[in-house]
Amino acid sequence: MTLQGVGAKSSSDQEAAVRASSFVPPARPELAEPDFWRPDSTKSDGRDRRLLWLDKNENTDPVLAAVTRRVLAEMDPSSVARYPDSAPLYGMLAAHVGVDPHALCLTPGSDGGIGAVFRTFVGPGDRVVYPHPTYRMYEVYSRMCGARSLTVAYERGPDGPRLSVDAVNRLIVERRPKLVGIPNPDSPTGTVLDLHGLRSIIASALHVGAMVLVDEAYHPFYAPTVVPLLPEFPNLIVVRSFSKAWGLAGVRLGYTVSSPAVATLVHKVRPCYEVSTLAVEIASRMLRDFEGEMLASVKRLTTGRDAFIGAMGELGLRTLTSHGSFAHVAFGDFGDAVHAALASIALYTQQLAPPLESFSRFSATTPELFQPVVESIRSVVRPRA
Ligand SMILES: Cc1ncc(COP(=O)(O)O)c(C=O)c1O
Repeated sequence: MTLQGVGAKSSSDQEAAVRASSFVPPARPELAEPDFWRPDSTKSDGRDRRLLWLDKNENTDPVLAAVTRRVLAEMDPSSVARYPDSAPLYGMLAAHVGVDPHALCLTPGSDGGIGAVFRTFVGPGDRVVYPHPTYRMYEVYSRMCGARSLTVAYERGPDGPRLSVDAVNRLIVERRPKLVGIPNPDSPTGTVLDLHGLRSIIASALHVGAMVLVDEAYHPFYAPTVVPLLPEFPNLIVVRSFSKAWGLAGVRLGYTVSSPAVATLVHKVRPCYEVSTLAVEIASRMLRDFEGEMLASVKRLTTGRDAFIGAMGELGLRTLTSHGSFAHVAFGDFGDAVHAALASIALYTQQLAPPLESFSRFSATTPELFQPVVESIRSVVRPRA
């Protein structure tokens, strides 16, 4: 072997190295923006299994978990060797939602549905309207599509954050966006717009040719839905999830509901198979046999949420009305002591972004599972005399 072959580089190697070092991958310019980053997926979130997980609005109801365990145990393991056949799930879901199967598109979580709606309707230079603060991926998908985010800030109302329908409508009329995203209930605020407000936003958007995505990820923790408005509004699209009420966050299953014409467009941006065989089989079985158990679980969690909010109020702590599967408490001067006391009991969001900066957020769980959390808070917060 020559000396050159062992270590020294030939001039053509050197030219290749120079070419490689100056190569700029021809990604879409919006992806190269330095402040556009995504969390490192190779790093675990490191959640301690000994704690109660109340930080991500998952369903921690042990009764529903037992149902899911049974469904998993009764599944045919060989099904995972097969590509999915989603048709039975489309049929069952259509009956569950009360629409034609062609009005639906299965997605990986409602998050996948939100992404699909952006890919279907939003391109570089388009404008997108949504509230702030809200589910973070509205901003991410906007950036992915090269769109401009126009946010409507929650106002500080006497009872907590409030979204002005008039402000949303003004932005729609003045800035003519392609898409308006309204999570209802919203997260992290837990607030909702009533059907009258939503109808007015959808009508304003129709007037300027914009789509409205109503994100019902927390359905049926909050039962009112815009699905009955679909025949009236061709610009309406709804996303829902199996993550929250159905307790299947790890399965990554959600769906869009729209007119069949809009659903046909959304299907064009889907992957080869929209969701996994496991997702199809678990959800089909849950819809067929366990819808009542899901509703009972939602009831247990809302009972737990409201009892927790009540107990915090009795301690003189400020709380908010929440329509999502989570609750807010402001610990004020007791914050440090409460967080120290809860460190060995539960994970939760200690501090939210403005206008909720004085609040901690706890995912809803059952009254029984909330009990040690309540007792621990009680031990450090002196009740009002
Ligand atoms: C308002 C809202 N929309 C969508 C999602 C996405 O949930 P998933 O993709 O698990 O359905 C979340 C998750 O917390 C959310 O809070």
